[in-house]
Amino acid sequence: MGEELRLSIAADVDVVEARQQGRALAAVAGFSSGEQTVIAAAISEIARNILMYAKRGEITLSLSQNGDRQGVVIIAVDQGPGIPDIERAMQYGYSTSHGVGAGLPGAKRLMDEFDLKSVPGQGTTVIMKKWRRAI
Ligand SMILES: Nc1ncnc2c1ncn2[C@@H]1O[C@H](COP(=O)(O)OP(=O)(O)OP(=O)(O)O)[C@@H](O)[C@H]1O
Ligand SMILES: [Mg+2]
Repeated sequence: MGEELRLSIAADVDVVEARQQGRALAAVAGFSSGEQTVIAAAISEIARNILMYAKRGEITLSLSQNGDRQGVVIIAVDQGPGIPDIERAMQYGYSTSHGVGAGLPGAKRLMDEFDLKSVPGQGTTVIMKKWRRAI
């Protein structure tokens, strides 16, 4: 472990930064270039959602060890409006902003673990993990 990065998300540049830092941390964890891109894409979607729906929030990136597997952990927290119907929000094509509605289901598909908790009026927390394939 050791490495932990806390990033404030409040503007477009922060989304780019989170994406880049996620890619860099994935590289440190030994993920392949392709896997780094996948992890960066998932971070990007979750960061974009913070910006669009909550205006601001925080993303923490860290490394984790599970047995002999090394992984990256992404925790995204905001105190925005929250999500009233999580099941619906997780469906491909559901969007309250005329978006594609692919961000949440896409991020879930890209990562190994995906947990979304949200309380309307209080905010949203997304925890995502990806484990390196054993070699
Ligand atoms: N952090 C958040 N706070 C509040 N609502 C959210 C948050 N993230 C997602 N949502 C809600 O979940 C819906 C689905 O999110 P998702 O990222 O899948 O699609 P989208 O953002 O609408 O479009 P896309 O990401 O494809 O551009 C959003 O339209 C929004 O209503
Ligand atoms: Mg989105």
